[in-house]
Amino acid sequence: MDVFKVSGNGPLNGQIKVGGAKNAALPILAATLLTDETVVLRNVPDLSDMRFMLEILRHVGAETVQPEPGVWEITSKQITHIAPYDLVRKMRASVCLLGPLVARMRKAEVSIPGGCVIGPRPIDLHIKGLKKLNCQVEIANGYVHVDASEIQGGPIFLGGRSGSTVTGTANIVMAATLAPGTTRLECAACEPEVVDLCNMLVKMGAKITGIGSPELVITGVEKLHGCEHSVIADRIEAGTFVIAGAITRGDVTVKGIAPKLLGAFLDKLEEAGLPMELGEDYIRVLPYEGSLKTVDVVTLPHPGYPTDLQAQLGALMTQTEGLSIITERIYPNRFMHVPELQRMGADISIEGPSAIIKGATKLSGAPVMASDLRASAALILAAFAAVGDTWIQRIYHLDRGYERFEQKLSAIGAKIERLKDTDMPKELLED
Ligand code: EPU
Repeated sequence: MDVFKVSGNGPLNGQIKVGGAKNAALPILAATLLTDETVVLRNVPDLSDMRFMLEILRHVGAETVQPEPGVWEITSKQITHIAPYDLVRKMRASVCLLGPLVARMRKAEVSIPGGCVIGPRPIDLHIKGLKKLNCQVEIANGYVHVDASEIQGGPIFLGGRSGSTVTGTANIVMAATLAPGTTRLECAACEPEVVDLCNMLVKMGAKITGIGSPELVITGVEKLHGCEHSVIADRIEAGTFVIAGAITRGDVTVKGIAPKLLGAFLDKLEEAGLPMELGEDYIRVLPYEGSLKTVDVVTLPHPGYPTDLQAQLGALMTQTEGLSIITERIYPNRFMHVPELQRMGADISIEGPSAIIKGATKLSGAPVMASDLRASAALILAAFAAVGDTWIQRIYHLDRGYERFEQKLSAIGAKIERLKDTDMPKELLED
């Protein structure tokens, strides 16, 4: 298995470019099933999650051609309605197949994705939305079975315990594009990735208004057609690089990202006193003296502070003098990185849904274990600020969502190497 060896190496300096957004590309890939014409997608990141999704698309009948890196031409002339467990279990986002299959095939059998380390990931809202579209939905033998022969648009309130749902919104919008009548979706997710999906659906011929707002109105059409679409930039990757600059007190320009996609995040960093220069499509982090200020953060659906940048901000706050409180409102268990940061010397306690971080602590390198995608990023960021070597195991989590992470960061001065676990000193290896 691959591991990272990261050594604190002082300030990072230079320019780093953001790739296509994983969480936009996944439902967009699923949306290619909505038409029998060819869809050309650009700026698709090269990630293991994309490979899983492409494998599932091929399984249901899509032809996938990659004429050049980052570009996929997908044609789904004839497809089946079944997405089996052995493929779906590899990635929760494969639940995004429900909407397109229901719309195009008027039936779907999609395995329910398994558990997740960051907390329960129910799909009750996806099911509620489909039922409101007059579909018959049954759960049997680990699968969601949908009979959509009588599908019909209508009013749907899609809010849950934590507010809106990102992939739930994607599914219901996709299902409604080809449903007779008008669907009025209230409490729709407003994340930029949902906006990107809707924009692509409009290019395919869908009728959607209210894009980017919590109320989407979808008027069903007979047929969708092929289109060309370029996936938006990954705001979470961009935010992770911003923190890489901040935690090393470097001068880092994160290119290819519109700062407006990161409003709540940049607002918190501004409150912390991080000097930044914002351009149309870049964020430059500048060096600073002394300590940043502590911040209190609560994760919320967009435009609130994103849960996918919670762990990384926590890493930065270990280097900030005073008490910071980070409250996680989307995924109750998303603090799996905390015991690992503690092993590096961080002073963090968990009180209910909040992490209380006391800084600034001197971090020192240690062998640590990544538990999920964003936790992996947080551990690497902490390792940049630590004295000595940090060995990070289970980095396959990171490979799901960060493209060429170590190459991009090495190019601006990070000391990060991908090695095999057999290269690790024996006494540091997990059992
Ligand atoms: N929820 C329900 N019922 C549902 C669906 C969701 O109660 O039917 C709850 C969830 O338990 C959670 C909240 O609603 O508390 C929000 O979940 P959401 O459905 O929005 O999450 P998701 O669509 O499964 C996407 C991203 C996640 C990101 C969240 C929140 C993709 C493929 N995944 O997940 O990304 O954290 O939205 O923004 O888009 C990541 O990239 O690391 C990641 C986990």
